Amino acid sequence: MINICLIGTGRAGLIHGRNMAAKVSGGKLIALCDPSEEALQKAKEELAVEYVYTDYKQAVENPDIDAVVVVTPTVYHKEIVIAAAQAKKHILCEKPLAMNEQECLEMIAAAQEHQVKLQVGFMRRFDESFQEAKKIVDSGQIGDVVLIKSLTHGPSEPKPWMYDISKSSGPIGEVNSHDFDTLRWFAGSEVASIYAIGGNFRSPEVRQEYPDYYDTVSLNLQFSDGKLGAVDGAQYVQYGYDARVEILGTNGSVLIGDQSKHKVVVAKKNGEIVRPAMHSWTYLFQEAYVREDQAFVDCIINDTEPLVTGYDGMMAVKLVHAGLTSLLEKRIVQLM
Ligand SMILES: NC(=O)c1ccc[n+]([C@@H]2O[C@H](COP(=O)([O-])OP(=O)(O)OC[C@H]3O[C@@H](n4cnc5c(N)ncnc54)[C@H](O)[C@@H]3O)[C@@H](O)[C@H]2O)c1
Repeated sequence: MINICLIGTGRAGLIHGRNMAAKVSGGKLIALCDPSEEALQKAKEELAVEYVYTDYKQAVENPDIDAVVVVTPTVYHKEIVIAAAQAKKHILCEKPLAMNEQECLEMIAAAQEHQVKLQVGFMRRFDESFQEAKKIVDSGQIGDVVLIKSLTHGPSEPKPWMYDISKSSGPIGEVNSHDFDTLRWFAGSEVASIYAIGGNFRSPEVRQEYPDYYDTVSLNLQFSDGKLGAVDGAQYVQYGYDARVEILGTNGSVLIGDQSKHKVVVAKKNGEIVRPAMHSWTYLFQEAYVREDQAFVDCIINDTEPLVTGYDGMMAVKLVHAGLTSLLEKRIVQLM
């Protein structure tokens, strides 16, 4: 049995906590850690554990803990992951892996040096539809991959700090790291150049104070082997949560994603046909998170390489940085 400590018991943390507590075989949630008494209290009420910490440094010293799931704000990922690696704990770290490429390199080196697993939270790779599409693409059914398009739109109004893109990176940082990982996974190669354009279309009232803030972005990418990529990202779209992918090959295409919450369609006498929209990533990727957590425990038990590695996490961070640079400097950024 792999004994797990959840570090960060907020919004995404509780998803992993619930999975590790009840849905993952071979793993057991035994500890919670969060400096916020309020968050900890809420988590404790729901998840029965043996140990509770407010300081991750104490948590990683507990010899009963085999692995940690790091779900704190991104700015703390590096110090926690390195402390966990030094204490010989296996690590599942939420995306984005860290604030910049240098931090990622240090985290990867620490995991290698202390011989622990480091998996990064790109749960879309564990989604059944994404995995099925990957099998189809790899089998050659659509010929050679030519163009991969991926979009993510989030419904929520930005929190006030998000208007300052030196703090949030805007949609490229908040949502598109998932799309970058999807593109790299389906292309099987690395991005050579990226170009971004964007604008603030939904929050005109902050244009003067935050001229660099954008809520919508469109990115064109080219891979080192010539394949093409297109990503778009948006915040505060209000209609729901939207994540869709199209892979165009020389002989066909594969589509992933649907904007509907479920398959029910209501036709009304006024001629309207209504289908509820997907409202949240937590619902859309519910099963993918379980499979991601199960895969993490399995890779520890079977001593195999995680499906999503620290390197994958670092490459997405690198693309976020390149995309933002392109947007702000209005130029194509060459990565190789
Ligand atoms: N995979 C995904 O699609 C996905 C979705 C949402 C969030 N995330 C990522 O998960 C991470 C957390 O996001 P969230 O939305 O859950 O944030 P959140 O603010 O809801 O929760 C973060 C929690 O971490 C706690 N925390 C802060 N510093 C800590 C520390 N030093 N040690 C332990 N706990 C600490 C906070 O008190 C809070 O309870 C971020 O990196 C975010 O990008 C990923």
